[in-house]
Amino acid sequence: MDKLRIEGGIPLSGTITVSGSKNAALPILFAAILMDSPCSFLNVPNLEDIRTTLRLLRMLGLSCECEDHVVQTEPGNLIPEAPYDLVRTMRASVLCLGPLLTRLGRARVSLPGGCAIGARPVDQHIKALEQMGARFDLEGGDIIGRCSGLRGAHIVFDMPTVGGTENLLMAAALAKGRTILENAAREPEVVDLARFLISCGARIEGHGTSVIVIDGVQSLSAQTYSIMPDRIEAGTFLAAAGITGGKLTIKNCPYSELETVINKFQELGMQISQTPDGVLAACGKAGLHGTDVKTQPYPGFPTDMQAQIMALMSIASSSSIVEERIFENRFMHVPELIRMGAQIKIAGHTAMIRGVSHLRGAQVMASDLRASASLVLAGLAAHGITDVRRIYHLDRGYERIEEKLNAVGARIERLQQ
Ligand code: EPZ
Repeated sequence: MDKLRIEGGIPLSGTITVSGSKNAALPILFAAILMDSPCSFLNVPNLEDIRTTLRLLRMLGLSCECEDHVVQTEPGNLIPEAPYDLVRTMRASVLCLGPLLTRLGRARVSLPGGCAIGARPVDQHIKALEQMGARFDLEGGDIIGRCSGLRGAHIVFDMPTVGGTENLLMAAALAKGRTILENAAREPEVVDLARFLISCGARIEGHGTSVIVIDGVQSLSAQTYSIMPDRIEAGTFLAAAGITGGKLTIKNCPYSELETVINKFQELGMQISQTPDGVLAACGKAGLHGTDVKTQPYPGFPTDMQAQIMALMSIASSSSIVEERIFENRFMHVPELIRMGAQIKIAGHTAMIRGVSHLRGAQVMASDLRASASLVLAGLAAHGITDVRRIYHLDRGYERIEEKLNAVGARIERLQQ
């Protein structure tokens, strides 16, 4: 297992480029299951979760090639089984359920267990697919779904679920008749999936709003498609500029999709503006001061940026409050930040952060993807050396992060743990 050794206290400066979005690429790659023709995907990030997805697609019968951020898939004889050993490493594997059912009429997918940040149930996916005519059994930890063709339905999600909306978009694209998804997720990654499906002949309207209407078609044939930039990676780099008191130009930064995050960073005292080269981010002269954040479904403040903004808040000149409203256990970065001198108290889903003048380097442990990013940010700002262990969590969602940060002045080494 690797760790990152970070020498803190260096203001970052220069230009950093954002990779393709992990959370857009994953559902779009699973949508290849729907296609009658080969697909070419551009700007695919080079990440562990992408490699896991390609392994699963090959097990399902597709052929997949990946070279230098381009993925090519070819349809094959589909084998509708996603095994536990693979699903347990990546919950997003459940996104093969909708495509397999609508394409083949059957699917056996290991029920994705919980993960560090919460139970992560898939009841909304199941309930909605049952409304479209699928029947499910649970056998040995696997969900076994069957149907004689899915038919359109009027579905109202109990909460806006990104994965649920994506699974149902893919299922409805080849179903018979009209499907309406109400209380649908509005995340940009859902919109990117819809745009890909439409480019292949799907009939979808309302993506990006909470009501999406899909009229099923007979077949879909893929086009070449370029994945949108990763707004969470971009937000993490904005945070790196703020927490180090540096100045970064972030290329391929999806400004409008990051509006809420940028507004919050500006409330903290950061200066962020669009320039012809990208988005320029710097810490204000007066440094950072506290603000309050509640995580919400898009377009609210994204839960995937909660750990990162908390690192910034931990060195602000005043106090902040963070409320995590999406996941039940997404404060695991807090004890590790406290080991670095942060002053944070947790009460239920709320964290109270009292800013300190500086953090101190320490040995810390990553627990999940975005917590890892938070600890790297804290290490960049801390006085002294920080070792972030178990960074396999980080490698799931950030492509070569230490190389990108070292290119703008950071001093990070990847070492054997
Ligand atoms: C996606 O997860 C993202 N993952 C997550 O990013 C992100 O945090 C999350 O959306 C919220 O934005 C991918 O896109 C691969 P949800 P997903 O279904 O789809 C509850 C990262 O760091 N729920 O929108 O699993 C659920 O428990 C990852 O990149 C049900 O109760 O999230 C949660 O409280 C972490 N039943 C809420 O809804 C269901 O059937 C939102 O979950 C489905 C969800």
